[in-house]
Amino acid sequence: MKLVCLISFFFFISTTSLAAVSPPNPTLYQNFLQCFSNQTKSPPNSLSDVVLPQTAPAFTPTLRAYIRNARFNTSTTSKPAIVIAARSEPHVQAAVLCTKSLNVQLKTRSGGHDYEGVSYTSNVPFFVLDMSNLRNITVLGESAWVGAGATLGEFVAPKTDPSLFMRLLLQPVTRNKAQTVRASVVALFLGKSSDVLSLLTRDFPELGLKQENCTELTWIQSVLWWANNDNATQVKPEILLDRNPDSASYGKRKSDYVEKEITKEGLDYLMRKMIEVGKTGLVFNPYGGKMSEVATTATPFPHRTKLYKVQHSINWKDPGTAAESSFLQQTRSFYSYMAPYVTQNPRHTYLNYRDLDIGVNTHGPNSYREAEVYGRKYFGENFDRLVKVKTAVDPQNFFRDEQSVPTLPGKA
Ligand SMILES: *[C@@H]1O[C@H](CO)[C@@H](O)[C@H](O)[C@H]1NC(C)=O
Ligand SMILES: *[C@@H]1O[C@H](CO)[C@@H](O)[C@H](O)[C@H]1NC(C)=O
Ligand SMILES: *[C@@H]1O[C@H](CO)[C@@H](O)[C@H](O)[C@H]1NC(C)=O
Ligand SMILES: *[C@@H]1O[C@H](CO)[C@@H](O)[C@H](O)[C@H]1NC(C)=O
Ligand SMILES: *[C@@H]1O[C@H](CO)[C@@H](O)[C@H](O)[C@H]1NC(C)=O
Repeated sequence: MKLVCLISFFFFISTTSLAAVSPPNPTLYQNFLQCFSNQTKSPPNSLSDVVLPQTAPAFTPTLRAYIRNARFNTSTTSKPAIVIAARSEPHVQAAVLCTKSLNVQLKTRSGGHDYEGVSYTSNVPFFVLDMSNLRNITVLGESAWVGAGATLGEFVAPKTDPSLFMRLLLQPVTRNKAQTVRASVVALFLGKSSDVLSLLTRDFPELGLKQENCTELTWIQSVLWWANNDNATQVKPEILLDRNPDSASYGKRKSDYVEKEITKEGLDYLMRKMIEVGKTGLVFNPYGGKMSEVATTATPFPHRTKLYKVQHSINWKDPGTAAESSFLQQTRSFYSYMAPYVTQNPRHTYLNYRDLDIGVNTHGPNSYREAEVYGRKYFGENFDRLVKVKTAVDPQNFFRDEQSVPTLPGKA
């Protein structure tokens, strides 16, 4: 049995307080379709649910299906000339070869969140290769092949028992007409509620966890619970396969890593600033556990020995650029207040919380220098090896986006 716990408490703090839409281009579409049809040895009329020009009825629903941020779902958001809704590996190969032969940019998109819309917007004419249908997971003995469109969960723990994962959320709220910060802890424990009660009473007595705050669930029910189904025991697991998104709000995410525990004074300061700034919240995800058992240079992901990942999170509902710039400014101010408490030189960042504020690439002559800025934040010391791999496999830098790994200077 698995167990989830939800605890909320409050800190009381005394305080005084783009690009244009590209017009449809029928010739481009005809050329692409012909090439795609040749490559996949399928007649063009059998590809009507795969190669989608802007005029296809499925174009907009397919494009929107994985837009998770209303900022990139407006009439002025740049749109691809064609969406390729790949249904098999040969479709992926044909999409790459045919896009390349037409000298168009290809943005690739799978099934996860993309906070900056990098996988489906561009400031040059582009196509989107959508791989969300490639969701098969094949288990072969100890290994599993996971389709690019499958989505993952994360299950790790901090320095406490490795069977315990706890996430802390700090959010500015108004309570009894006073501005304060709410701290919520959500936790997953692999075991019995009596065991997690004694564990938390020992390691985190401040939380005052009670039996009533815990629910024993099967594994799949705990997955439903993390997917925001309060009724995990009453909901069928099949709803996890339903990806119809809720209507998205506008949002911005940034991230940090903590290597040295933030002192109580530091936390007090940050909570005051959170109230002052207004709407930005923080989500702390502890590392350790399985995460730290893998060497930092074994995979591109370098942040394995950190104490925490911190997500800066803000959502809003008001459309328009004035609201957007005000809320973006909030997140940037708060990010500057966090600086003393998080890793520096480089200030590490989590790739999956894509943040274009930390640097972008114009893919001109300074491409490598530009990439070093964001690349070392995302990949640490693994950046240089990634550049070597990239230079070997994609010397022409065909696969590129605002923050892609660059080719080495002189080799492009
Ligand atoms: C935890 O349990 C206590 C005691 O029943 C209750 O007062 C509190 O509201 C619960 N907290 C949550 C977040 O459910
Ligand atoms: C597709 O194949 C035909 C016949 O082999 C060839 O004539 C044509 O040029 C090819 N078209 C494209 C766009 O590759
Ligand atoms: C996914 O699995 C199904 C059922 O086994 C199979 O029919 C389909 O071809 C697979 N798709 C891909 C892209 O491998
Ligand atoms: C949640 O559970 C309650 C009580 O069993 C039930 O009335 C309600 O319909 C459930 N909601 C969902 C979304 O399943
Ligand atoms: C995107 O915009 C359309 C049209 O306004 C809307 O119907 C749809 O729900 C929006 N999608 C998201 C994810 O917000």
